[in-house]
Amino acid sequence: MTALRSAAARGPLAGDITVPGDKSISHRALMLGSLAVGETAITGLLEGEDVLRTATAMRALGASVTQHPDGVWHVRGVGVGALSEPDEVLDMGNAGTGARLLMGVVAAHPITAFFTGDASLVRRPMARVMTPLRQMGATFLARSGDRLPLGLRGAASPLPIRYRLPVASAQVKSAVLLAGLNTAGRTTVVEPEPTRDHTELMLRHFGATVEVEDGPEGRVVSLVGQPELTGRPVLVPGDPSSAAFPIAAALLVEGSDVLVRNVGLNPLRTGLLTTLQEMGAAITIENARTQAGEPVGDLRIRGTGSLSGIVVPASRAPSMIDEYPILACLAAAGRGRTVMHGLGELRVKESDRLAAVAEGLAACGAVVAVDGDTLTVEGDGHAPDGGGHIATRLDHRIAMAFLVLGAATRLPVTIDDEAAIATSFPGFVELMNGIGTAIARPGDGPGEAGPAGPA
Ligand code: S3P
Repeated sequence: MTALRSAAARGPLAGDITVPGDKSISHRALMLGSLAVGETAITGLLEGEDVLRTATAMRALGASVTQHPDGVWHVRGVGVGALSEPDEVLDMGNAGTGARLLMGVVAAHPITAFFTGDASLVRRPMARVMTPLRQMGATFLARSGDRLPLGLRGAASPLPIRYRLPVASAQVKSAVLLAGLNTAGRTTVVEPEPTRDHTELMLRHFGATVEVEDGPEGRVVSLVGQPELTGRPVLVPGDPSSAAFPIAAALLVEGSDVLVRNVGLNPLRTGLLTTLQEMGAAITIENARTQAGEPVGDLRIRGTGSLSGIVVPASRAPSMIDEYPILACLAAAGRGRTVMHGLGELRVKESDRLAAVAEGLAACGAVVAVDGDTLTVEGDGHAPDGGGHIATRLDHRIAMAFLVLGAATRLPVTIDDEAAIATSFPGFVELMNGIGTAIARPGDGPGEAGPAGPA
């Protein structure tokens, strides 16, 4: 385990940066490229460990996935329904998205595959995808609690279903739609709360027919099965969930001025921006455009002093589900009470994020309470003292959120292990130190270059 310590930034943060590619879009591009006929060239793919696991899995299932020297990834697909049985266990590492979406893909192929993951992923619930995929004809043999490792025998003649999501989860929606690809007839998912729609947008991009209607039951998404998908170029925008960290750091340090270019601004992902604007943050969108079907823009953030506490409604959770750890850190440095409702899903992420955030903030001297699915953070207009030693629990977003908080606290904040950061944000420390944070290994002086020095 390699610890990291984040000391107060010595001055305002400044820079013109880009963050790595969107994790959700990167997984989907590799999977759909593998199911398409012909070549898919992916520019801006996130080369984080989660996505690299998906690349390895798609190769094991018969697709050709290669990275060219210019950084563009090329996928040569086998066509819908033509994946082959993998010889090896599919080890999805830390990636819930990779594991659950790929189970959907395999569930509608007449093959058997075994899935496993790291110590975090094997604790996460898989029943949420197993239930609908069983209805489509797949068979699972899983560990108690419906957890990995598990074996999955796909259906030879999968059945189309109409499935109402019991939890707001883009992963579950996507697993069912991906299984629906090799299923004759129409597969329908009803989602009471809209969740990120990258699967729907990308399915259309590759030539499938996907219909979306908003009705009294919520959003109804249906896919016509057994299309011929055609390889297409995919341009992956910067991940808004990764951009959240430099954005938050710039807001925490007064006088900062940071431009984050090429950030994905899909409206089903921008709940954090809405929330920050309600809290009084100075964030402007420049150069708004559409890139390969996804809205994209450049974000300029000015750190103008402390943010005001607000109530974040439960209905906003799906559009900012991965951003609560960093929002809670910002709220602790804000003025007044921030109440975040509807956070039950945070308990089943890479770690129990409700517990991790509450314990970590308390260790840094913040006033924080969890009541059921509601998180409340009190701020007095200044960052808490800091000084906490944070257990990262194999959770990249816990690690990054507390390193960012340390940029504004009086005492440094330490995390016990940097390893998880590489799942979604390779180069995080170098990028952050490049705009002025002081993140280093304990033992190196604050801000000293060392292995975690400025880029
Ligand atoms: C994701 C969906 C979300 C999110 C995850 C990525 C996706 O998970 O937390 O990081 O790419 O579909 P849930 O579907 O569990 O909400």
